[in-house]
This record gives sequence, C-alpha cells and structure tokens, in this order.
Amino acid sequence: MRVCVIGTGYVGLVTGACLAHTGHHVICVDNNEEKVKLMKSGRSPIYEPGLSEIMQKSASEDRLEFTGDLKYGVTNSDILFIAVGTPALPSGDSDTRYVEAVARGIGTHLNKGYKVIVNKSTVPIGSGDWVRMIVLDGLAEREHSDTSGDETAKRLGIEFDVVSNPEFLREGSAVYDTFNPDRIVLGSNGKRALQMMQELYQPIVERKFAEDASMPPVSVVLTDLSSAEMIKYAANAFLATKISFINEIANVCDRVGADVVQVAKGIGLDTRIGTKFLQAGIGWGGSCFPKDVSAMIHTADDYGYDAQLLKAAVDVNKRQRQIAIEKLQHELKILKGKTIGLLGLTFKPDTDDMRDAPALNLIEQLNRLGAKVKAYDPIVSQTGIGQGFTGVVVETDPHRLADGCDALVLVTDWQQFETLDYEKMAKQMINPVIIDGRNFLDREKLEKIGFRYVGIGRS
Ligand code: NAD
Ligand code: UGA
Repeated sequence: MRVCVIGTGYVGLVTGACLAHTGHHVICVDNNEEKVKLMKSGRSPIYEPGLSEIMQKSASEDRLEFTGDLKYGVTNSDILFIAVGTPALPSGDSDTRYVEAVARGIGTHLNKGYKVIVNKSTVPIGSGDWVRMIVLDGLAEREHSDTSGDETAKRLGIEFDVVSNPEFLREGSAVYDTFNPDRIVLGSNGKRALQMMQELYQPIVERKFAEDASMPPVSVVLTDLSSAEMIKYAANAFLATKISFINEIANVCDRVGADVVQVAKGIGLDTRIGTKFLQAGIGWGGSCFPKDVSAMIHTADDYGYDAQLLKAAVDVNKRQRQIAIEKLQHELKILKGKTIGLLGLTFKPDTDDMRDAPALNLIEQLNRLGAKVKAYDPIVSQTGIGQGFTGVVVETDPHRLADGCDALVLVTDWQQFETLDYEKMAKQMINPVIIDGRNFLDREKLEKIGFRYVGIGRS
C-alpha cells in the first residue's frame, strides 16, 4: 500500500521504516530539513536499536523515501499518518498545534479520491473529529470556497476518513515492539478505513516479522474514535500508576525493613498483577508518561471530574525524584562541596532521549545544594548531546567518572553498568558509596568489593 508518515521522530520514523520493511511503499515527511538530509543519507536522527538497518534496507529497495515536501507525500499516498509531537502545555493540557498544522496542510493538498488519515500521535479525546474539521478547513481555504468544507470536498470528489491508531511502542525497543505488538487498536466510524488499516497491518498481525512467528495472530481492537483515543491515555496512566504504586511500597519497605525486590516478585507472580512494571526506582520520566497522565487529569477536569488517583500517581512520582537526594544526604550528611557521579542520564536505557529524565532533576537539585555533578552515560557521552547540559560534567568513561567522587548514583539501568570494573572504581572514589536508583546492581558483589550499597526500598 502507499503510505505517508508525517513527523519522523521516535514514533513516525519507526512506524515508517517498519511498514516499509513489511513491503509497503512509505514516504516519510518532516519539516526539519536537517533531519531529512540525514535520513536521505541513510542515517537515523535518533538512537533506536535496529532502526538504521531496516531504514537502509528499505531505502535501498526503493520502498522508503524521505522528503520535506508534504504535498508530495499527500498526493502519492492512500494512508496518511500524523505522527508529530504533542508535548504538554504549562497547564498540563496537550499542545496540539503541530497536529493542527499537519491536518491543515493535508487539507491543502488533498486531491480527488479516497484517503485514510491516521492519528498516530497521542491526542486528546475528541481529536479525531477535530482533525477532520481542520482538514476540511484547509481544503476550503485552498479553494477560497464560500461553502462548507464538507460541500467543497463533495464537489471535488475528495473523500477521507479519520482513524485513531494509538502507538504503544517503548523507546529503546521500538522496532521490536512494532513487529511484536501486544495488540493493534484501530478506532474509526469509517468501515472502508478500518478495512484498509487491517490490510496495512496484515503482515504484522500474522507475525511475519515477529521474533516468534508461531505465536497466535496479534489481537486487533476495532472500536470508535474516542475509545481508541482513551485506550492510549488509559494504558499510559495505568502503567505510570503501577510504577508509582511499587515506589510507594518501596518507601514503606525502607521504613519497615522489607526488600521491595522480593515484594515485587511475590506480588507479581499473581497473574492478576503481573511482574512487569514493578521495578521500584527514582521515578518515571520520558516524553510520554508525564505528559499523558497530566493530559488525562486535565481532560477529566474539563468534564468536572477530579482524577484523584492519577493526581496521587503524579505526586508520588514527584516525591520519588527526591529519593536519591535524601539517600545521599543520609550517607554523606552535607552535600555542599561533595562530588556526585551519575551513572546514566537518559530517562531509560537504550535511548538517547532526555525528555523529562529524572537525571535532570537530580542535577538541578544537587547543584542547588552545592554539590559538583559528573556523569557518564553510554549514549550521551558518545554522541556529544551532553554538551548542551548545564551543571554537569559529562565524562567519557566510567573511571573518569568515579575518580574523586564522594558517591555514585545509578540513574539509568543500562546493561553495560552491570559489568563495570567496580573494584577499580571504588579505589578511585573518596567514599565508595553507591545509590542504586533502579535496584539494578548486584548488591552482594558490590558490598564484597567494599561499596556501601543503598537501593530503593531494600533497607
Ligand atoms: P518527536 O518529537 O520525536 O518527533 C516529532 C517529529 O515531528 C519531529 O521530527 C518534528 O520535526 C516533526 N514535525 C513537527 N511538526 C511537523 C510538521 N508540521 N510537518 C512535518 N513534521 C513535523 O515525537 P515522538 O516522540 O515521535 O512522538 C510523536 C507522538 O507519538 C506524540 O504524540 C507522542 O505522545 C506519541 N508517542 C510517542 C512514543 C514515544 O515512545 N516517543 C510512544 C507512543 C506514542
Ligand atoms: C511508555 C510505554 O511503556 C509505551 O507503551 C508507550 O507507547 C510510551 O510510553 C509512550 O506513550 O510514549 P517509554 O516511555 O518509552 O514507553 O518507556 P517505559 O519503558 O514505559 O519507561 C517509562 C519510565 O518508567 C522510564 O523512566 C523507566 O525508567 C520507568 N520505569 C519503567 C520504572 O521506573 N519502573 C518500571 O518497572 C518500568
């Protein structure tokens, strides 16, 4: 099928490259010229395992194109994905101006025939109908029409339906998640659109590109627009709440002398609860949980409902971002004049994304308390994206990081951190203290080496 993906960030580029890999013809459009240039040269502007390889393969087989020309993308495709950012406004509501610009642009370039317009971006409930209206406005403007957008479209033989197809991929495993989804959600009132979307995803549904091709087909949830939009927010709100829940339990564990890792295992084995997303730590971050939970609270508020549980999940998370500071103060007493080394900066491993990363809060607070902050991160240290950071010296290797530190804090659970030469690092430090902000390291091994190990909820 002929597909256009507008916005080539973590979601758009992965979606475009994966759909091309399954055999469709995909045009990726972005208004960032630098990005388009980079992608045309076969390189990915983001770090995502496995992405460059499938991008390069599909591009070399002429199934994947990159352009800044929206008109080219719209006129040469039947399915148009909107995958631009929807960051949070200061009010907590979702900033939909990028979606609006793209929807208007699509309207400006629509030609005779039928197209499916897909909201892949995470958008507030009701956005499906709103996008339809903006597209029609764009069309009416182009035609300088006195009549409504609907009538203009009819007169020109232009037909389209809007589909909500929320994305559930995780950064760091985005390609894997796209080929191995738990489910695909499609919301629309248009039967033809739903049929085309099912055809588009057929290879993925049949697990033709899955790690385990013998698994049963992927479940496809066919629903209405608003329910599909709500499914996305509800999923992220649930996952964020689950983490806040285990973080709250961890804080009680710290006080009563229980080990949250054992507790998480013990409750997670109950299949009604499940073991995933029960890793206590220094709080959730990233480009989506914080903004999506806030947007959900905001939407509830718009309808006169006080979303107390979600507000509590956010509050617990805010507090959790302080936990490493409290533990450092407990170990070192005064932080002024001390040097703290951060292992990891990104909001989670296997990504270069720093949006709402807990490390940023830590750096700010440590600076405020008069501590010097150094950091080592496998991706940030390599790519040089840390050059723009203030209040932190980004070191090029873990030993330069440990040198002269009063304590280390493991911020991101990068796999590489499991096997560092901690014995050597301990000798380079003023105090061999480590706060394991993700309960990720081998406590016994570190204590044997001489580290004072402090986890989260593992007193
Ligand atoms: P991103 O910021 O990484 O990428 C957005 C891209 O859109 C950028 O490349 C930008 O240049 C481009 N863009 C902006 N305006 C444009 C325009 N008018 N025309 C063409 N391109 C334009 O965003 P992201 O992280 O990929 O997120 C996109 C959406 O997907 C958001 O709504 C987000 O909530 C949702 N989502 C993200 C993830 C994730 O893991 N990042 C997962 C699921 C859903
Ligand atoms: C999350 C969801 O998992 C995806 O399904 C969704 O598509 C995406 O948001 C989105 O809407 O953008 P992502 O933000 O990439 O994906 O990463 P997660 O693996 O969910 O981690 C989010 C944060 O929670 C990270 O800071 C991570 O360290 C933290 N986390 C995760 C924990 O503290 N404990 C856990 O047990 C799991």
